[in-house]
Amino acid sequence: MNAISDRIRIAVANNLRAYRGIVNAWERSEERHRDAEFRFRCRALFLKHLKGPRILDVGCGLGFDSLAFASSGLKVIATDIVTEFLDRIKTKKGGRCVALATMDMTLPCFARASFNGIFAFASFLHVPGEAALSTLSGFAKMLVPEGILFLHHAASRQGVSEYVIDNLLHGKESVSAFCHSEEEMTFLLESAGFRVVALHHDRIERKTSALSKRYGLETYQIIAGKNE
Ligand SMILES: C[S@@+](CC[C@H](N)C(=O)[O-])C[C@H]1O[C@@H](n2cnc3c(N)ncnc32)[C@H](O)[C@@H]1O
Repeated sequence: MNAISDRIRIAVANNLRAYRGIVNAWERSEERHRDAEFRFRCRALFLKHLKGPRILDVGCGLGFDSLAFASSGLKVIATDIVTEFLDRIKTKKGGRCVALATMDMTLPCFARASFNGIFAFASFLHVPGEAALSTLSGFAKMLVPEGILFLHHAASRQGVSEYVIDNLLHGKESVSAFCHSEEEMTFLLESAGFRVVALHHDRIERKTSALSKRYGLETYQIIAGKNE
């Protein structure tokens, strides 16, 4: 392994350890109910552009979106680096309608043209900067020619490209997060074989977090279509 791939693997391993440590806390937390309307709008945006039933949810966590997609009849594979999240999905109402796979999104494991859409809600932010292009290229390969990618992601007004989220869910764990301006993201997507189809600036209606203030974080949603 070279120094870059070492850094990528270390960042991914740290995030895996941190998320694994909050499975129970997240399941118990009120946080998971707070953003329901915002999530609904994000899914609606994705569905508006989707042209087929096969969906990959990357970094699905406890599977809120996967379960919602499956309940509307779509064929969903929910993936996360943390297998314990997937175990929880199995126990939820409708969980048996969701296929599950442990996957590090920086090392995707599905065949070419497996999906009509890939949904990444607040998960691509954990992909180390050096792995961003290869990860997006991996997404493009897994999509059919008319396939689409949804990203809910963040830019920093202060030009920060990496920051640490301390005390994940008010606990002891910390994770690394990586942000991209809309221009950087557009360039990355185009380099990976996508074109930007829609760009939105929808927001969760709640007070700006201390972290967002500190780093000038602004979220955005991108729909990217795979180039034919
Ligand atoms: C902020 S949470 C979002 C979870 C879910 N999409 C949601 O909105 O509820 C980020 C998720 O990304 C997962 N994750 C982090 N790094 C990952 C990686 N390299 N590959 C796959 N999943 C990853 C974490 O385990 C966590 O479940």
